[in-house]
Amino acid sequence: MSALDKDTSAGLIIRQMVPRNLEAPFDQADSYLTPTRLFYIRSHFPAPTVDIASYRLSIDGAVRNPCSLTYQELRDMPADTRVALLECAGNGRVFLVPQERGAQWELGAVGNAEWTGVPLAALLERAGVAENACEIVLEGADRGRPAEEPAPPGPIAYARSLPLSKALQRDVLIAYQMNGRDLSQDHGSPVRGVVPGHYGMASVKWLTRVHAVREPFHGYWQTVDYGYWDHLDGNPVRRALGEMKIKSEIARPHMYEILDPHQVYTISGAAWTGETEVVGVAVSTDGGHTWAEAQLLDPAQRHAWRRFTLDWMTPATPGRYVLLARATDANGNVQADTHDANYGSYVINHPLPIEVFVGNPSTRST
Ligand code: MTE
Repeated sequence: MSALDKDTSAGLIIRQMVPRNLEAPFDQADSYLTPTRLFYIRSHFPAPTVDIASYRLSIDGAVRNPCSLTYQELRDMPADTRVALLECAGNGRVFLVPQERGAQWELGAVGNAEWTGVPLAALLERAGVAENACEIVLEGADRGRPAEEPAPPGPIAYARSLPLSKALQRDVLIAYQMNGRDLSQDHGSPVRGVVPGHYGMASVKWLTRVHAVREPFHGYWQTVDYGYWDHLDGNPVRRALGEMKIKSEIARPHMYEILDPHQVYTISGAAWTGETEVVGVAVSTDGGHTWAEAQLLDPAQRHAWRRFTLDWMTPATPGRYVLLARATDANGNVQADTHDANYGSYVINHPLPIEVFVGNPSTRST
């Protein structure tokens, strides 16, 4: 193992030191699997140290046989390995105008990794979910007083619920490995949830409790934080963020890159969506007036990203050019032109403008 593999923050950009919130320079996203050292870290509280020897995962609440498993018992269960993309719901926030509160993520709070663990469904089968259970709450070992008001009076744990139907899908993992290695502390060691198709906040790290509930869970991390406005019979209602929306990001060129005129430049990036597959990505090099179909590099695979490329003959005329990417998924969803204000500072999935300059640096002022 090289020193770089051990140091999970090598090469990442700091958005916050404590707790650690680090993002990847997205122009380095050129592999199908994001190397762990380039995988963003998003934590609300300082990472807890969870001792493997005394570790227990409790499965309780609305279940017939509450149980608690040691780390070794989990490792001894039949395991699945899956590729799943995690994107922080606030990824791209820096593009919002006017500026929104929260970490000013650029493009790199997203990564595509391979996860190994036990399907949550297998644990729920073992515990026997009660017939009237409706959601499964995943709870982490980290605690603290959250930042956004209204904040509860004392420290709380990081906890999020999943609808029972999603929790029972075999692709939701109680994972202990990422990219073939045991989880690092920042990514949730020793055990975390991985909820493919949902924004990253659903994938609870340092997981110590799986709790079945009979009434919808309205915890802090899905009401005050990570919520959005939906509409019910004409009235706005608050709901928990869940499934990811169709999105694409240009990795190269990077923002404000200077390109040579009249040369072939390979534009590259990646696209992803929630519970279906990406089927196409169009790219514009003139601020959205015209679009060309990009080439998809990776096979269509639910819950993973598809990288894309497009060869662009850069203009002979020096100046500023705006590049955009717009993806479509198998359900016919296309990225909307603008950010949906119902999502506040989350779900920034409109085509994000990448400004480049063709010619020498003096053309910046043109
Ligand atoms: N789990 C716990 N226990 N505490 C957290 O702060 N952050 C969530 C989620 N799981 C979080 C958590 C958020 S907001 C995201 S985007 C992902 O973890 C990030 O996972 P990563 O740090 O492994 O990239």
